[in-house]
Amino acid sequence: MPTILITGASSGLGAEMARQFAALGYDLALCARRTDRLEALAVQVTTAHPDRRVVVKALDVTDHDAVFRVFRELRDELGHLDRIVVNAGVGKGRPLGTGRFDANLETAMTNFVGALAQTEAAAEVFRAQGTGHLVVVSSVSALRGMPGNITTYAATKAGVAHLAEGFRADVLGTPIKVTVLYPGYIVSEMSATSKVTPLVASTERGVRAMVEAIEKEKASARVPAWPWAPLGFVVKHVPVGVLRRMS
Ligand SMILES: NC(=O)c1ccc[n+]([C@@H]2O[C@H](COP(=O)([O-])OP(=O)(O)OC[C@H]3O[C@@H](n4cnc5c(N)ncnc54)[C@H](OP(=O)(O)O)[C@@H]3O)[C@@H](O)[C@H]2O)c1
Repeated sequence: MPTILITGASSGLGAEMARQFAALGYDLALCARRTDRLEALAVQVTTAHPDRRVVVKALDVTDHDAVFRVFRELRDELGHLDRIVVNAGVGKGRPLGTGRFDANLETAMTNFVGALAQTEAAAEVFRAQGTGHLVVVSSVSALRGMPGNITTYAATKAGVAHLAEGFRADVLGTPIKVTVLYPGYIVSEMSATSKVTPLVASTERGVRAMVEAIEKEKASARVPAWPWAPLGFVVKHVPVGVLRRMS
């Protein structure tokens, strides 16, 4: 059976990826801090797909030693890891210089330094196996420097995309593959959006687009493609004043 490790699997996009990959026949290694959520998800998945193996572990991605240990333990429990999805993240930032360095630091430590630890740990597993697929969840906000609450968040997401692209260059021509996903707005705890508009995809639709891009092993993808492929182009090229009004 193919196997996939997903971090940040206790809610939102990570939990829905777990459900959709289980339906595609993957055995799952799931981690996050809220293990009660992971255990409930494991029951849901194995009830729907009795043949699936689901292994869950507590992991705080800011505990870097734990990231390496937990990835190795999950690899050992499932025998091998075909895919690792670096998904855990927070969106707690505040505008620069407004006295909330604490919130921006937490965002940076989780979304960038935590993702660095996960990417290193995944790369070690894949180099040892000689094969594997690294998936990094960035964001459309990574395409530019962003104003307001998401300045630090967008910078972390640009950082993780570059980490992944650098690793892709390292392993080019080998059986190790790398995908960077740039989601637009998708309903989750982080986006805290209950209203689904053309700009905000439901969790099911947004994650289906992510899973399709992952299955195709795309180098990068703005997801869902509508409206985020064209809107991503706009975000990338508009003057900063327009970007500010759009945000
Ligand atoms: N939803 C969107 O519109 C959107 C758009 C672009 C990118 N993204 C990215 O998609 C990813 C998933 O976010 P989401 O939208 O699904 O939000 P979410 O529902 O809030 O899920 C975030 C996940 O990250 C985990 N997490 C947070 N801090 C962690 C830590 N220190 N250690 C381990 N796990 C941690 C959470 O688990 P615990 O709290 O249980 O640890 C949770 O499972 C994030 O990287 C986010 O930046 C989301």
